[in-house]
Amino acid sequence: MPANDHVEIDLDLVEELTDKETAALDEKHRRSLSYREEAKAHLPGGVSSSWQMWPPHPIYVSRGKGSRVWDIDGNEYVDYHNGYGVMVMGHAHPKIVEAVQRRVELGTHFAQPTEDALACAENLTERFGLPYWRFGNSGTEATLDACRIMRALTGRKKLLKIEGTYHGHHDSLMVSVFPKQEDAGPRDHPAAVPQTLGLPQEFVDLVINVPFNDADAAAEAFEEHPGEIAGMIVEPAMTNCGLVLPDPGYLEALKDTCHRHEAVLAFDEVKTGATLAWGGAVEAFGVTPDLLCLAKAIGAGLPCGAIGGTEEAMGQVIRGELEQVGTFNGNPLTMAAMKVNLNEVLTKDAYAEFERLNSILAGSDAIIDKYRLPASHKMLGAKGSIDWRATPIHEYRDLWEIDDRVPQLAWLWQLNRGVFKSPGSKWESWTTSIVMTDEDAQRYVDNFEEFAAAIAS
Ligand SMILES: Cc1ncc(COP(=O)(O)O)c(C=O)c1O
Repeated sequence: MPANDHVEIDLDLVEELTDKETAALDEKHRRSLSYREEAKAHLPGGVSSSWQMWPPHPIYVSRGKGSRVWDIDGNEYVDYHNGYGVMVMGHAHPKIVEAVQRRVELGTHFAQPTEDALACAENLTERFGLPYWRFGNSGTEATLDACRIMRALTGRKKLLKIEGTYHGHHDSLMVSVFPKQEDAGPRDHPAAVPQTLGLPQEFVDLVINVPFNDADAAAEAFEEHPGEIAGMIVEPAMTNCGLVLPDPGYLEALKDTCHRHEAVLAFDEVKTGATLAWGGAVEAFGVTPDLLCLAKAIGAGLPCGAIGGTEEAMGQVIRGELEQVGTFNGNPLTMAAMKVNLNEVLTKDAYAEFERLNSILAGSDAIIDKYRLPASHKMLGAKGSIDWRATPIHEYRDLWEIDDRVPQLAWLWQLNRGVFKSPGSKWESWTTSIVMTDEDAQRYVDNFEEFAAAIAS
């Protein structure tokens, strides 16, 4: 379809439909709305994490089973949120339930290693081709460890990251996550923008940002800061900006550049690991970094994180020179769930389920064409997104062209019709699960067609 052959979305109509959808949601969420008011008395904003406050109101969940979740009003949804991409094995998977129940009875915490940790590390080694692993409790801890290791290995302080990427909430990297256009500076030298109040400027000043999918920009950053950059951390496919895949050769070029400058390359596979493919982005794109951060899907819904690395990258940890620590690291309950998840649930064969679902979700392409929507659609493994832009998003700054109101309405529309996607859907990719049925996938496509007809009319 030629670029100029798209319908222009009428934003007045979008606002009118958003009002209707919000009213319909409020009607279904009477209990949730009254609970939110009670919760606000002791939970700031009525939630436990600021990003759970997405408008019009938080979705309070009571339970999940298989591909479905239920809110506290009793409404049922097919879950495409999957807890920010964690639950690719589906909710309350019988094998995970059994593993956790078995472990609970044996004691849940000792702050000493249990035997399951080795089985988990062996599986991760097979998947990602890196020999050494340590476990933590979140993606934030994994990327924090990566920053510390990169700095310790090189004796340098600065970190290179991609503009518009989130790597967790620690001070070193909560910079230029979703920078506003007016703050972000020029594309060839993006400003380092704190994402939150409370970040010391000294941390912000240690971060250099470059656009995704631009290997030259990364090489230039190293040349402009000779001997200062400890390493580069990159999500090998961006997942907080829709799903943005790397151009062919991009990740190899980053690895060459880092190594040419005696710096470390870390992949943040917190979201892509065990979701894009059995071996995550390493398998999907064929590049192995020096350090690799994991969390989310590997732990089957238990709090988890992992940092893996080459023998050289993990050398200081192996020798006890660098302290990678945490009371709950390698927690027995997490290890028990992870071991079964990695070895018996998210097996190589299980990944074929995503192909089946994607072949149905691909129906969205025909709808985009039929209604001449300024939108594009990407999928890989369990992840996918619809970008509200005629040409696919290639780097963070492309998002600025998208009017927030359109993806917000698209999200509300699905929510009111039994599909729960992650809020903030301009940024969030969706995540499917191996237990979803063909009908679950078709529900998304049918809703999307109804939505397309409504906004293109
Ligand atoms: C790419 C990426 N890295 C790191 C994190 C931080 O993980 P956690 O929320 O488990 O600390 C996230 C969280 O969404 C993420 O998307």
